[in-house]
Amino acid sequence: MKRRHASLTLALLMVALPLAGCGGGEPEGISPQRMADALHAVMEADRTVYTRNVVNRLQNEEDVIQATEHWKDEKTLPLPAQMFRMGSELAARNTDEFTYSLQSLWPINKQNEPRTDAEKEGLQYVTENPDENYYAEEELGGTTYFTAVYADQAVAEACVSCHNDHKDSPRTDFELGDVMGGVVIRIPRS
Ligand code: HEC
Repeated sequence: MKRRHASLTLALLMVALPLAGCGGGEPEGISPQRMADALHAVMEADRTVYTRNVVNRLQNEEDVIQATEHWKDEKTLPLPAQMFRMGSELAARNTDEFTYSLQSLWPINKQNEPRTDAEKEGLQYVTENPDENYYAEEELGGTTYFTAVYADQAVAEACVSCHNDHKDSPRTDFELGDVMGGVVIRIPRS
């Protein structure tokens, strides 16, 4: 009996919710900005947890294992940036709702340099305003995108020491808390 009641309530909700949406003049679904902000909150949390609790703890504090670029051959830990890219590549195979990448104005890997105007402007903006995000619309190849850029900060000593010591790093003076780059999230609109 209880069960039937629950499903009736659910059925009513399913009818009522879209109607409420129309009546209130609310736009359908969530805005691209809220979607990008929510996605970024998860990405940043995962990235911070991996760097602090895996890389920084095992490499910098306990001296147990290193994180290196050729982690498969060397049986080491993948770099935080590699973890991020592997996630991004898998997500791109599972959905075409959004794409994301990690970039920097001082990249160790030249592939991570900003390319579009929005990426360049966005990285510059979050470097100067680490507590703010950058949002833009851009048209690329006939598609309009909502593009968001978020500051990527040195949240652990491992970020700073590894970049400053890396032979391909154009910058060697990063400090804890500095903006080292940015996360770019792109959502197609049309
Ligand atoms: C053990 C070394 C190491 C650690 C730790 C590390 N990085 Fe990196 N990082 C790299 C390397 C190497 C790349 C380039 C990897 C690639 O694209 O394949 C990179 C890429 C990046 C990029 C993209 C631009 C670029 O330099 O190519 C950003 C931004 C970045 N790291 C920030 C950080 C932050 C912030 C942390 C800490 C949360 C961190 N890194 C931790 C070595 C490291």
